[in-house]
Amino acid sequence: MKTVWITGASSGIGEALAIEYAKAGHRVIVSARSTEKLEKLKSKYQQNIIVIPLDLSEYSDFKALVQEAIDRVGKVDILINNGGISQRSYAKDTSIDVLKKIFEVNVFGTIALTNEILPFMLKERAGSIVTISSLVGKFGTPLRSSYSASKHALHGYFDSLRAELPEQINVLMCCPGFVKTNVSVNALVGDGSVQGKMDNAQNNAMSAQDFAKKLISKIEAKKSEVYIGGKEVFGVYLKRYLPSIFEKIIRKAKVN
Ligand SMILES: NC(=O)c1ccc[n+]([C@@H]2O[C@H](COP(=O)([O-])OP(=O)(O)OC[C@H]3O[C@@H](n4cnc5c(N)ncnc54)[C@H](OP(=O)(O)O)[C@@H]3O)[C@@H](O)[C@H]2O)c1
Repeated sequence: MKTVWITGASSGIGEALAIEYAKAGHRVIVSARSTEKLEKLKSKYQQNIIVIPLDLSEYSDFKALVQEAIDRVGKVDILINNGGISQRSYAKDTSIDVLKKIFEVNVFGTIALTNEILPFMLKERAGSIVTISSLVGKFGTPLRSSYSASKHALHGYFDSLRAELPEQINVLMCCPGFVKTNVSVNALVGDGSVQGKMDNAQNNAMSAQDFAKKLISKIEAKKSEVYIGGKEVFGVYLKRYLPSIFEKIIRKAKVN
């Protein structure tokens, strides 16, 4: 039995991962702001779920929360940094406050939680740190400037962290394409309000459950970077090998 800590476990990808791990008999620490949704997960998978509510932008709380968790479970085998918020607005219409909010949650909160858990993994000389980035962590698209910047920042941080750690601690960057969750409903628009509607791209995408199963196999295989999605995944290779063609295509790509 492993202990897996998942942020953003109240919805979408994080919830699906929590269910898959709990069903397989692992112990899952579930975190997000929506305590009620986390408690609902616990009511279904009882002894396998530990609820630790947290807001990723309140990172001064994390030291105490991590110590509390370690006191209860001894160690964390897998940390899945999944909680995050997206964006649906052009750069020219997006306030700097939206950029800051997205970085607070996606970047600073994610790094702060990782940094509190890391000493315990180093003590064990074992563990997996998995961070859910995005394909837009590898290339930019319209309507995602702040979000794409936040995901790119995560790659820089976690690639550097990997280079500092012993091989026994695996650092995996996961870049999803479109997955059917509420990410577009919860995405921020230029003035900081939420979009409040499901995009076609998400509505027609793979289920969170299918995504979770694929990701778990990549975590077990101790990969460093994975792309999981539909044909949008080819954007990574197009940008790398044919950048001028990529630039033409991405201007017209349907990203919502
Ligand atoms: N779905 C996609 O197409 C897609 C594609 C690429 C990358 N991703 C990434 O996948 C991850 C999961 O997103 P999802 O698709 O499952 O979307 P989602 O259904 O909107 O779930 C987002 C999760 O993040 C949590 N969260 C948001 N703000 C938070 C905060 N301040 N503190 C703590 N938790 C917070 C939410 O919980 P609370 O609201 O309860 O706090 C929720 O559990 C995100 O990092 C997203 O960027 C998704």
